[in-house]
Amino acid sequence: MKNLETIIQICKQRGFIFQSAEIYGGLKGFYDYGYLGVLLKNNLKNLWLKSIVFSRDNIFLIESSIVGPRKVYEASGHIEGFQDPLVECKNCHQRFRSDHLMKGEYGEVKLKDNKPLCPLCGGELTEERQFNLMFKTYVGPVEELATEAYLRPETAQGMFCNFKNVLNSMRTKLPFGIAQIGKAFRNEITPRNFIFRIREFEQMELEFFIDPKEAEKWYKYWVEERYGWYLKLGFKKENIRKREYLREELAHYSAATTDIEYKFPWGFDELEGIANRTNYDLSRHSHFSGEELVYFDEKTKKKILPYVIEPSVGVERLLLAVLVEFYDEDIIEGERRRIFRFPPFLAPIKVAVFPLLGNKKKLVDKAKEVYQIVKKDFISFYDESGSIGRRYRRQDEIGTPFCLTIDFQTLEDETVTIRDRDSTKQERIKIEEISEYLKSVFSNND
Ligand code: GAP
Repeated sequence: MKNLETIIQICKQRGFIFQSAEIYGGLKGFYDYGYLGVLLKNNLKNLWLKSIVFSRDNIFLIESSIVGPRKVYEASGHIEGFQDPLVECKNCHQRFRSDHLMKGEYGEVKLKDNKPLCPLCGGELTEERQFNLMFKTYVGPVEELATEAYLRPETAQGMFCNFKNVLNSMRTKLPFGIAQIGKAFRNEITPRNFIFRIREFEQMELEFFIDPKEAEKWYKYWVEERYGWYLKLGFKKENIRKREYLREELAHYSAATTDIEYKFPWGFDELEGIANRTNYDLSRHSHFSGEELVYFDEKTKKKILPYVIEPSVGVERLLLAVLVEFYDEDIIEGERRRIFRFPPFLAPIKVAVFPLLGNKKKLVDKAKEVYQIVKKDFISFYDESGSIGRRYRRQDEIGTPFCLTIDFQTLEDETVTIRDRDSTKQERIKIEEISEYLKSVFSNND
């Protein structure tokens, strides 16, 4: 039932997500977001900000630049180590990530003389080589090593580079965090599964700086905190799990990592990673920049090189998980209904307003009046075209929790029907009570 193709189709048809540069044949691994996609992404980002930043006193938001000089990525280890193994078919010239190829992600792989063949055409493959995933550019008109710069492959490095600025300007103490939401770019060899693995995406990252002695405690804290956040978002327990990395799976900077995995249509896969990055980044940036990135402990009068715990999640990957989690189909009045059962606080459009008949001026005028009232407090949608049943279906398909219909009785007693998306039950409510009623529903869910 949770067919990825159906979700992709609704996303395009209803205005959540479009292929980037589609009219020119599309650019692989890049997507554009329509009105509903932007609203849903904003809701997710705001919920993350509330949970990570605004509900705490010791975590500060920053926005660092996307383009960074070569030095930053030499220090971070990305120039040397941020690469994936690549093979190319000598016959059809399709390129593959060889570790994914061996896992069967491109289809069945046949062997010849113990070497894998192209899963598409059966052709011979080149020897494996390492491919760096960073997008390179030059700053200014001269293209030389000194002007070489990179689109950031993670937002994290901007936070390490600003460690001292935030520490000093916020006059904070350990433990404290720097958080950021922003674009990251990776020239993935094979983007796949719609918006799961893409080349331009947004990350929501927290770098939480701690006394090294407390690393284990804070690592466990953030794993549980982040896992709990997904349950609060409304993910079913059976669709979400924690997976701790084996030693050999760890990134070059990490002493321990736990992934929060979601049950995507192709199986459990990474949604978010929580890593103990040790003091790797601060010590490397201290070394490469010559700036001492340490914390001075007033009590012991000693310098501490903090450790970092980092929860990091991609906004689009989370968006995909949300679309999959809340997509549903049922039968209403003998007709198949496609529906997103978003919790009200997540829904992109909160309320839709309809006149029962779009060709009756009195109903249309009254409906527009009600629309102006609800629009002040909630992102709303007005629709007068097509049968009322069809209008309800269109809202169900984009996950709008409530529809208000203005009918002939409204003109007599100032009441409208309010229809619940999930149960399809309708009740009458006074126009003057609508806003209070909806506010209570949305705040209960927040
Ligand atoms: N700063 C740590 C870091 O970047 P990562 O595991 O490479 O770690 C963190 O990425 C998160 O960013 C992932 O769990 C995923 O949600 C998201 N992400 C990474 N690569 C992505 C891609 N190509 N497309 C979409 N999301 C991606």
